[in-house]
Amino acid sequence: MKPFRMFAHTAMIAGISAMMFVAAIATAAQTTKSEEKKTAPGEAATATALDNLQAAYDGESNAKTRYEAFAKKADEEGYTKIASLFRAAAHAESVHISNHVAVIKKMGGEPKADIKAPDVKSTKENLEAAIKGETYETEIMYPGFIKQARDEKNKDALKTFNGAKAVEAEHAKLFKQALENLDQGKGGAVAYYVCKVCGYTAIQLPKNDCPICSNPKDNFDKVK
Ligand code: FE
Ligand code: FE
Ligand code: FE2
Repeated sequence: MKPFRMFAHTAMIAGISAMMFVAAIATAAQTTKSEEKKTAPGEAATATALDNLQAAYDGESNAKTRYEAFAKKADEEGYTKIASLFRAAAHAESVHISNHVAVIKKMGGEPKADIKAPDVKSTKENLEAAIKGETYETEIMYPGFIKQARDEKNKDALKTFNGAKAVEAEHAKLFKQALENLDQGKGGAVAYYVCKVCGYTAIQLPKNDCPICSNPKDNFDKVK
């Protein structure tokens, strides 16, 4: 190869390599961006306690709507006791909704929720979906939100998130018990007790005050 042609050849290879390098960087940057979107709630660099309150308000509002629809379906299928549990859980979610709303408003925000039409299947599948939702809230969503609220030293957000997280763990347990004893879910509505302050849900009124928020036991709602 003559010196000039060799130079041109080398330059061309170098040019192609440079373009490939730029393309690789761009792909890497894109991957990072799409991975950012998958970051667990409360961990995204830009999410604030107020954003998380809105996300929790949205989640709780959808859960309430879902449980009301699941209760209707359970009644239709004769699972009247499970219908009562879904109604009690829906009532507890409404306590979480008002607690989150109060903090959003105190921070100068306007609560916004996008209520989707619930995906209603058989009661067995609805219980499975409910367990999945409550477990996600207990193990991923609220822990992330609590961490963020703590970082921002936002006591109000911390209190409403902590209360909801503890109650969702109870809901997951109640739904698991109902799923394991599905055939005992028939035979008439049954009463549940729901704490008016934190939404704690139980088949029996606590012996003392609410085990989660210490609200006096005479300040519970009875839901059938
Ligand atoms: Fe809730
Ligand atoms: Fe719940
Ligand atoms: Fe409570």
